[in-house]
Amino acid sequence: MTESHNCSSANTPEPKQSFLGLSRRSFLASFAIAAGSIGLTSIADSAKAASKKYKVCATKSIKVGGASSFRVAAAKNMMVLITQPKKGVFRAFDQRCTHDGYAVNSIEGKNLICQAHGALFDIDSGAVKRGPARRSLTKFTVTVEKNFVYVTIKS
Ligand code: FES
Repeated sequence: MTESHNCSSANTPEPKQSFLGLSRRSFLASFAIAAGSIGLTSIADSAKAASKKYKVCATKSIKVGGASSFRVAAAKNMMVLITQPKKGVFRAFDQRCTHDGYAVNSIEGKNLICQAHGALFDIDSGAVKRGPARRSLTKFTVTVEKNFVYVTIKS
C-alpha cells in the first residue's frame, strides 16, 4: 500500500520516487552572528551542524491533497511524508506514528492514517484528529526551490 522513495542531500541528483497517496487506499542557521567575543560563533556553528537540508522530491511528485513517503538515505534512512494540502503548499512529517512508531501509510480525504491502530492526522498540520495517538506528527521545515521539495532535518 505504501511506496517509498530514496532521497538525497541537497548536493545529489534527484531521488528516485515512489509512493503514498492517490486515493483512499493509496498511500502516503545558519545565522552568522558577529559575536565571537562572547562565544556565539560556536553556538551558530553548532546549530548549523545540527540541521541539514535534503532534496526530497519534485513538486510534481505530490498530488494536490495527496501525500507520498520518501526515504532520506543521507538522514539515517529517515522516512519522510510529503503532503500538498493545497496547491503549492507542501508539508513534511516524520512518517513514524506518535502512538507506537508504526508507519503512517495511507490517506483518506484530508487525513493521514496510521493503520496500525487507526490514528488520524491532519494532512496540513499533522495534528491528531483521532487517537490513540495523542501527539501531532513531527513536522519538518519545507522549502521549495526550482520545483523541488527540500526538508530540513535536525540530526
Ligand atoms: S502506532 Fe499508529 S495508531 Fe498505533
